[in-house]
Amino acid sequence: MSSINQHKPNYSQTGPQDQILDALATAVILLDTDLRIVSLNPASETLLQASIERARGLHFDRLANLSQDWQNLLTQVQSENFATVKREMPLVLHSGAQYCVDLIISPLQPAGESPSLLLELNPVDRLNAISEDAQLREAQASMRQVIKGLAHEVKNPLGGIRGAAQLLARELGHGKLNEYTDVIMEEVDRLRTLVDRMLGPRERLLTRLMNIHEVLERVRQLTEAESGGNVVIERDYDPSLPEFKADPDQLTQVILNITRNASQAMSGEGKITLRSRAKRQYTLGGKRHKLVCCLDIVDAGPGIPNEQLHQLFLPMVTSSTKGNGLGLSIAQMIANRHGGLIQCESEPGHTCFTVLLPMET
Ligand SMILES: Nc1ncnc2c1ncn2[C@@H]1O[C@H](COP(=O)(O)OP(=O)(O)OP(=O)(O)O)[C@@H](O)[C@H]1O
Ligand SMILES: [Mg+2]
Repeated sequence: MSSINQHKPNYSQTGPQDQILDALATAVILLDTDLRIVSLNPASETLLQASIERARGLHFDRLANLSQDWQNLLTQVQSENFATVKREMPLVLHSGAQYCVDLIISPLQPAGESPSLLLELNPVDRLNAISEDAQLREAQASMRQVIKGLAHEVKNPLGGIRGAAQLLARELGHGKLNEYTDVIMEEVDRLRTLVDRMLGPRERLLTRLMNIHEVLERVRQLTEAESGGNVVIERDYDPSLPEFKADPDQLTQVILNITRNASQAMSGEGKITLRSRAKRQYTLGGKRHKLVCCLDIVDAGPGIPNEQLHQLFLPMVTSSTKGNGLGLSIAQMIANRHGGLIQCESEPGHTCFTVLLPMET
């Protein structure tokens, strides 16, 4: 059983005169003299979680919780008619979302009135996150090099050991001692599979133009079937997401590795939410993308301890006696090969893995 909650933002094209504002990563907001919203660029629509259609005409405090500091700043700029800059200003939305922004407020003076205001907001959390992304990528790239070298050293002798055990088994005939050669061969095979998994998926992506919801639906069916119906997937898809070029089989593996963990964390029963959204003008791996596909996989399990969060995507990090701690490192590797990234936020009762993928066409 699953439920569907559809969300339809507007991705229509803007005219050439709006191209600069559209492309800005800085959120730009124009308020009239009564602090009502006149205009928002796409970055501020994302930041304030409101489309311009919904926000136009609303007082700014209907979207954001205007603390005394905010109110003082806005009134100060209007009365002094002088621009001001404020670093690391907290911004809290009524939805509960919190940001820390670098803020510039400039007055736009119409004759004889108190000025309307132009606000420029740069979320600093996002800037920090970009440098963390870069560090994570570097750590993973060097880890991958080590694994490659190690895998090569381990796999070669394994072939020799297996061959020798086979010869020995043949010499021994069908006696009781064959149990021992069987154990050697089984363990060699297990090690080889482990090393192959550590090396990760095939390097070459088989990309084609695909609809991400096909992937999510495949994962939904598999996860619900694997749990015997005890895990319910709630779908919160944005059906207006355009198709983009990616490897659907490998992306299925990414989402499946994450949902399997979620299902294991909830002891095989509970609700997992699959959410799809688009983000505009988003930086991934040091590259700005016009449109990025943002997939959230949310579970209500016990959460991931803070000290584990920082190492989550490194191979061999596991709390499970059965797992190898490879699922997430493989998922991250595949996302990276698509030019994307996986992030995680977790607290008890709410764990959210976010897969970000550039929507290349
Ligand atoms: N949704 C989640 N809730 C709680 N803990 C999680 C969640 N997802 C991952 N983890 C933790 O992260 C660890 C690493 O996950 P990962 O998928 O990489 O390895 P694994 O599940 O242990 O083994 P494998 O996937 O190789 O079978 C898990 O063992 C678990 O401790
Ligand atoms: Mg796993």
